[in-house]
Amino acid sequence: MSFKTVQPASPRMNRCELAVPGSSPHMFEKAAKADADIVFLDLEDAVAPDKKAEARRNVIDAIGDVDWGDKTLSVRINGLDTHYMYRDVVDLLENCSERLDLIMIPKVGTAADVYAVDMLVTQIETAKGRKKRIGLEHIIETALGMQNMEEIAAASPRNESLHFGVADYAASIKARTTMIGGPNPDYGVLTGGPDDAERAYHWGDMWHYAIARMVVVARANGLRPIDGPFGDFSDSDGFRAHANRAAVLGCEGKWAIHPKQIALANEVMGPKASEVEKARRILAAMEQATREGKGAVALDGKLIDIASIRQAEGLVAMADRLAGRS
Ligand code: GLV
Ligand code: MG
Repeated sequence: MSFKTVQPASPRMNRCELAVPGSSPHMFEKAAKADADIVFLDLEDAVAPDKKAEARRNVIDAIGDVDWGDKTLSVRINGLDTHYMYRDVVDLLENCSERLDLIMIPKVGTAADVYAVDMLVTQIETAKGRKKRIGLEHIIETALGMQNMEEIAAASPRNESLHFGVADYAASIKARTTMIGGPNPDYGVLTGGPDDAERAYHWGDMWHYAIARMVVVARANGLRPIDGPFGDFSDSDGFRAHANRAAVLGCEGKWAIHPKQIALANEVMGPKASEVEKARRILAAMEQATREGKGAVALDGKLIDIASIRQAEGLVAMADRLAGRS
């Protein structure tokens, strides 16, 4: 281990993060009752320019008026390149209730972007005597953000999570895409050589690099890596496969852009019963080894390393938190 320790961000359940347009207040009550861990009320791309001010007012009112239960509540502000952004932060934090937990910054490109929002948030929190410290979520969705992700991730103690915004990212790097977050059949390889009669074509995942890089940078900075949208909400199998491959790489959650995707995200990102059962057995074996004064922990004839014990603790803590909710 390095002498440097990574401090994890405030622990939160983040299996599913539901996007709700700020210009659609009729959706707020339903979102509050849905099974997503985090709801983000959107002031950015889901809101037309002539609805920005109205959406901002809707969101400010709803933060205090709607019963959000035990959900984490976030607001996606507009980008720092727009003239909406300063009012989003100022109006929001000067007027909304303490129920707000997070601010999500879209298209973050540099550490200075984070610094600017942090500075504004800090001043308003102090001036208004706000008690809850607002955390920051960052969407990595431009070439600039991808390039500067390491500095972005380390830019503020408020940082909590990095999100891969595949739609804007594709546009930013001029990738050839067919559907938001989906695969492109042109991204593949032929097996074998020209004389191979059994030659097969294998599709690849064109987002592998972006997601894998985000996971590394997030984890190295104690942040949660979250996979962004999957556009075709009628394709449950497609969503499940894409969420699964993000989970395998280390992502902790996925966005839902439609209520249909919430249960799928929870299913994929939540702890599996068999994994939790094994994790409990690992912890029991560890406790027994400690009682017996043994340095090494073994389960089913195999040595258990400290990394597996930590993972088991995390999994059991998550399962217990979920059990406590239901
Ligand atoms: C999300 O904001 C995206 O652009 O994918
Ligand atoms: Mg976007």
